[in-house]
Amino acid sequence: MSQNIDQENESTLSPAIGLPLIHQATSAAGCGITIVDCQQPDMPMIYANQTFTQITGYAVEEILGKNCRFLQAGDQDQPGLATLREAIAEGKECTVLLRNYRKDGALFWNELYLAPIYSDSEGQCSSRKLTHFIGIQNDVTARVTLTQERNDLVQRLQKVNRELNDFAYIISHDLKAPLRSIRMLSTWIKDDYKDNVDAEGQELFDLLVQNVEKAGLLIDGVLDYSRIGRHRNPAQELETNALLEEIVHLFPAPDAASISIAPNLPNLSGDPVRISQLFQNLIDNAVRYMDKPNGEITIGFMEEGSGGKTTSTHWHFYVQDNGPGIEEKYFKKIFQIFQALQVNANNGSSDHISTGIGLTIAQKIVTLYDGEIWVESIVGEGSTFHFTLRKAGEQQGDLLAQLSEGIDEFIVDG
Ligand SMILES: Cc1cc2nc3c(=O)[nH]c(=O)nc-3n(C[C@H](O)[C@H](O)[C@H](O)COP(=O)(O)O)c2cc1C
Repeated sequence: MSQNIDQENESTLSPAIGLPLIHQATSAAGCGITIVDCQQPDMPMIYANQTFTQITGYAVEEILGKNCRFLQAGDQDQPGLATLREAIAEGKECTVLLRNYRKDGALFWNELYLAPIYSDSEGQCSSRKLTHFIGIQNDVTARVTLTQERNDLVQRLQKVNRELNDFAYIISHDLKAPLRSIRMLSTWIKDDYKDNVDAEGQELFDLLVQNVEKAGLLIDGVLDYSRIGRHRNPAQELETNALLEEIVHLFPAPDAASISIAPNLPNLSGDPVRISQLFQNLIDNAVRYMDKPNGEITIGFMEEGSGGKTTSTHWHFYVQDNGPGIEEKYFKKIFQIFQALQVNANNGSSDHISTGIGLTIAQKIVTLYDGEIWVESIVGEGSTFHFTLRKAGEQQGDLLAQLSEGIDEFIVDG
């Protein structure tokens, strides 16, 4: 459609094509076609095809001789009109989206393409004088309505998500103080009355303290989770290898597992706190559940074209371990808030407390960077957590997916 009509005409017209055939063709076109005369005052319409009359509801005889602005029915406060006026004044082509009104007054969205026609006085096209404009009209109401509905939905979801985040934050924050008291009181009672309580009672007290501790960790997890959407540090250039060296040092040298970082990992752009938290949670998971005496944890990335998901826009990283592995039925569940995976390490510390929130947080961070996270695993052999991150470090992601995920989690688990 962006061809220059005056230059193209002579080369594209076959001698066999006559006016009746062109008329038939424009009549049959699935879009509105109009021609206006620029040499007459107020540029009246001198041609309108059948589809234009169907879109607008006007008969040809009602509209020929009029300027097309009658379709705006006085609704002239539209950004597209300024572009249109400029293109007409400069004799250029343009595409604009306009609010137009049918004969019965119903609004429709008109995607209008305009192109100038330059001809000489005999009507030959030879780049001389701007004599006409051709307009192509498409009724795009369905598309615009859908976009508006989607935007409304995103806004509503954003609002609900913000409210849920605030709610989770406030509740978890306020629950911390009473929970601390319960923990202190139960420890005191356990210590002060240990001579009056038999072994079974002691065991129940231990269970009480353990559960209070777990509730505390869950609350911390929810606080962490809700903080991700609340606070955002500006994106920075991050040297991934250096960042990972620091993270690995945070882990107490585990007897059971060695952690190796692939050299030359691509540098990232993002919030250092969030990116660290992402790697840290995945490494922590691998260390925590390691069940082999010679545990191996590897952090690497997939080169572009190596079968992974590294593309021109995203990096693909992974954290691999040779731990106990995960059954396929849990592959999705482990990323859902509060779905703690009951995998106990066989290395003697099987009674550790897990809240299962680490992977949920990892997923939320990945989503903020327009990425995805998934696991591949073979029970008994190990797991590989893969994730992608947008290279430019944009924190928008697929907003809709991100918002609806947040809501699903709260609806399902809250
Ligand atoms: C070929 C052609 C087709 C046009 N088709 C439409 C149309 O379908 N709907 C519309 O609102 N305006 C259409 N216009 C724009 C109006 O005719 C007019 O140029 C516009 O409203 C800006 O001018 P104004 O400020 O004098 O109203 C068309 C213009 C041209 C040149």
